[in-house]
Amino acid sequence: MGGGYVGLVSAACFSELGHSVNLIEIDAQKVKAINLGRPPIYEKGLEEMLRAHAGRNLTATSDYKCIPDSEIILICVGTPQGPDGEADLSMIASCAKSIGIALQNCDGYHIVAVKSTVPPGTTERLVKPTVLRQSSKNINKEAKGPQNIGFVMNPEFLREGLAVQDFMDPDRIVVGSSDQNAGDLFMGVYVGLDAPVVRTSLTAAEMIKYTSNAFLATKISFSNEIGNICKRLGIDVYDVMKGVGLDHRINPYFLNAGAGFGGSCFPKDVSALIHLAQETGEEPILLKSVVDVNERQPLRIIQLLEKKAGDLAGKNVAILGLAFKNDTDDARESRAIPVIAELKKRGAQVKAYDPKANSSMEKIFPNIDYCSSADAALKDADACIVMTEWPQFGQLDKEFDLMRSRVIIEARRILSCKDAEGICW
Ligand code: UDX
Repeated sequence: MGGGYVGLVSAACFSELGHSVNLIEIDAQKVKAINLGRPPIYEKGLEEMLRAHAGRNLTATSDYKCIPDSEIILICVGTPQGPDGEADLSMIASCAKSIGIALQNCDGYHIVAVKSTVPPGTTERLVKPTVLRQSSKNINKEAKGPQNIGFVMNPEFLREGLAVQDFMDPDRIVVGSSDQNAGDLFMGVYVGLDAPVVRTSLTAAEMIKYTSNAFLATKISFSNEIGNICKRLGIDVYDVMKGVGLDHRINPYFLNAGAGFGGSCFPKDVSALIHLAQETGEEPILLKSVVDVNERQPLRIIQLLEKKAGDLAGKNVAILGLAFKNDTDDARESRAIPVIAELKKRGAQVKAYDPKANSSMEKIFPNIDYCSSADAALKDADACIVMTEWPQFGQLDKEFDLMRSRVIIEARRILSCKDAEGICW
């Protein structure tokens, strides 16, 4: 249930593993596109899979009629950030209700599995009682009791852009279950994949997902803080982290300092964990600092720009990169958003270019200039900020001569030209 990034990638990959998959999505246009083998989002390898399986063992539909005949029902809907940083579980609740209604008067064993990122306790205290209440399984004397529906929590660890690869070749598979039998049966969906399996309770599986994302976000903010100190000391933080990351207890990944983390997961999940901790009476000092460092990084870019270019009012500023990272058209929580907002506040003219995310950013800032190439954005610019780690930006050098002056700020370590100034290197 849910044809977003997680649901669609999972549906395509489960069909690749040989299962028969119905993808329930309420957006009729998405359903149509998926059934034609056309993914509504850009994700490496996804189109090939959809073309191979759509209309065969993968069908998208807006109808819940396929639920009774499905052995496993996976909830893959979004859990957006609520007004106080908490996870908004309304779509999860609505899915659980629809599943329960669809399973009324229905025989056979079903597993309801949550793949969405949800706060610990959600599967046990929201999904399970809602499904059981709506399906009347726990009160129906004819039924064999609540055990004819099993509950599983199976978090995803899919990076955008690499989601298909992460699904098919995972570091680990985490399965939390209401009982041993539900977990054992659920593991059948992953037959064919070779990865360590972690079997836990429902709540521990939910916490594993939040903890993984919070830890990765912490690594990034830690590197950014070290980078900010290095900048003052005239040290290249990338040299430092190379030396640090080779310690096997630390590892070299997610130590890239720069503009900070964006995307649909890290900011939302760290906020939700902070909210959850505070609800329990625990003050999450470290996690709050992780967010704080992340929110200040874009402002440092503006400070550096003002130091180099002076008053920004009326200046032309080129932004290269709008996606929250390379290889995606997704601009959600992109660090380019606060940077553009600050530039506009200071009266600068913004010309922006991203290889894939121009139209995503246009929904957020309809009134800046979107260019179809880096050259067009750079032409006559007074300054340029590189905001996304697109590899193709790495080769830019003489293109910067199109600017009025070569004031180049690098918020991601990607350029090879000598005169760019890094935000923390
Ligand atoms: C993340 C998790 O990695 C994935 O396991 C989870 O299930 C979903 O959320 P994703 O949001 O696709 O994936 O992006 P990721 O590659 O993790 O990058 C997140 C952000 O951190 C990006 O803005 C990226 O630019 C930034 N980042 C990443 C850094 O600033 N430095 C790094 O070293 C790595």
